[in-house]
Amino acid sequence: MSNQNYVTLQPSGDKIPLVGYGTARIPANETEEVVYNAIKAGNRLIDGALLYSNEPEVGRAVRKAIADGIVKREELFIVGKLWNSFHEKEHVKPIFQQTLDNYSLEYIDLYLIHFPMATEFVDPKEGLNFLNAKKEFNLVKAPLQDTWRELEDLVDAGLIRNIGISNFNVQSTLDLLTYARIPPSVLEIEHHPYLQQRRLVNWAQSQGIQVIAYASFGNAVFEKFPPGTEHLENLMKHPVIVSIAKKHKADVGQVLLAWAVNYDVIVIPKTVKIERMKTNLDIHNIKLDDQDLKSIAKLEANARFNDFFENTYGFDFPVFA
Ligand SMILES: NC(=O)c1ccc[n+]([C@@H]2O[C@H](COP(=O)([O-])OP(=O)(O)OC[C@H]3O[C@@H](n4cnc5c(N)ncnc54)[C@H](OP(=O)(O)O)[C@@H]3O)[C@@H](O)[C@H]2O)c1
Repeated sequence: MSNQNYVTLQPSGDKIPLVGYGTARIPANETEEVVYNAIKAGNRLIDGALLYSNEPEVGRAVRKAIADGIVKREELFIVGKLWNSFHEKEHVKPIFQQTLDNYSLEYIDLYLIHFPMATEFVDPKEGLNFLNAKKEFNLVKAPLQDTWRELEDLVDAGLIRNIGISNFNVQSTLDLLTYARIPPSVLEIEHHPYLQQRRLVNWAQSQGIQVIAYASFGNAVFEKFPPGTEHLENLMKHPVIVSIAKKHKADVGQVLLAWAVNYDVIVIPKTVKIERMKTNLDIHNIKLDDQDLKSIAKLEANARFNDFFENTYGFDFPVFA
């Protein structure tokens, strides 16, 4: 349990804020202003990805915030992610360089392998997706070990401060740990009361790998639901969460974020609303008690909303199995 504002990453010793800001699904033409406002509101951890198609605008916001004296570069923690179609070793460095150029920064703080699956190369100009332009899901034989070696080189070159993984399970992480010269600092996963992943979180943390949660608000923000999860009520309207929010004079978003942070899980909520940028950050005084934690533990439903089914992503692939 912790009410600290930062956790420390291994092996770099860098500090990462427990509460940050996500940039997925912010339209590119709004991103510069929105992310600038997020930094102005106090956010220091910015979670981005090439997939989100707004890296140049995130970079402009970051540079403007620095130029305006709101923040110094070393106070920011900037994240990027290697997309699935660039795992083959010859593609890793060029595509990372594109991210660095998009951000127009000298280094980034964390670079994650977005998913533990390698798909065929696509020209980034054609737009990124899980599927190719013909709507096919084509895996390629790119050993993760080769991909990881490229990332380690980029750390050695001083262009990335920390490397990590996203959407990995224990099995794939264990394998990575057998050969990683630089171990992963972070595991980013879907995490909310309907998918608590307590054993995975505990195990990762026991290995010195910090956990970042995405989709902290659960099904409240998804439009299409994987089979077997459709019946679940909107997490943000769930009576258990609503009553805990009332008890702590907080809003439901704050309760869901404070719940994750209670377990030292880093959160990166996305919002375009300035008021929410502030309230989502202002959670360190919300101390959930044992009764709150027990009630939330009972909401576990093993419900993964960001999963690959025909009705969600247009293809079926059990990457989390
Ligand atoms: N590694 C991965 O595979 C992966 C996958 C998904 C996401 N991510 C990262 O995680 C970040 C967060 O995940 P997410 O964007 O999917 O979902 P999220 O942050 O859980 O939810 C975002 C949604 O919740 C709303 N919202 C934000 N704060 C709120 C509050 N306090 N009360 C009520 N509603 C609130 C936002 O609406 P408004 O904008 O209207 O406020 C938005 O629709 C992403 O931006 C991305 O950086 C990573």
